[in-house]
Amino acid sequence: MIFGAILAGGTGSRMGLTNMPKQFLELGDKPIIIHTLQKFLLNLKFDVIYLGVHENWTGYMEDLIEKYIVDEENKNRIKIISGGADRNSTIMNIVEDIEKNYILTNEDIIVTHDAVRPFITSRILEENIEISLKYGACDTVIPAIDTIVVSENNEIIKEIPNRQYMYQGQTPQSFKILELKNLYNELSKEEKEILTDACKIFVIKGKEVHLVRGEISNLKITTQEDYKIAQAMIGVKLND
Ligand code: CTP
Repeated sequence: MIFGAILAGGTGSRMGLTNMPKQFLELGDKPIIIHTLQKFLLNLKFDVIYLGVHENWTGYMEDLIEKYIVDEENKNRIKIISGGADRNSTIMNIVEDIEKNYILTNEDIIVTHDAVRPFITSRILEENIEISLKYGACDTVIPAIDTIVVSENNEIIKEIPNRQYMYQGQTPQSFKILELKNLYNELSKEEKEILTDACKIFVIKGKEVHLVRGEISNLKITTQEDYKIAQAMIGVKLND
């Protein structure tokens, strides 16, 4: 089976909002997370699309589905569960629910994606499905445009790696589900705490993660500036 996992368990502290997590902000005519969900629904290969939502906001998410997703068949493909304390825990909550409700084989995959990347394209989703089915794990990346500079103390450059080999990681990140779970369970508590990136679970265990070409437009809305860019991208007129 093919599962979508839209990660929306965060509160968006860097946006500086107090009333709601950033994934629920309006972008044009609907909330950011609905844009993202609708892109997943367009791909009929997804048997189930999970929304891992912050535990205080699952009821709110249910109301959004009622309001914006009118097609009953589409509604039946959506499942809302509570997210975890960090991004990987949200993924693992989804994996746990999948295991409880479906009999998994080694071929079943999960396509994990940030709720706050609403400009995901059909091509990127399709290639994530294809490449993770073929190889077991993939990451969506764009070639680094700026030179990447490494500094470990925030004061002095330690290294300037060759830009030819540098990429910026986006999402989706897609995996064979059972392998992801087994590798994650092998990590120590300390390793789990520092691993912000799901692909790194594979990388530190020496497993190959293939690359899928992302898009500059597959922007992550992290700050107010990103939100303004996203609004401009869909043609919202801004006052300031
Ligand atoms: N995320 C999640 N579960 C968490 C933390 C984050 O599912 N416990 C999700 C966010 O909701 C978001 C995505 O991971 O869609 C990318 O993370 P980020 O942009 O860092 O979101 P936040 O954690 O919400 O933002 P901040 O770090 O500014 O608080």
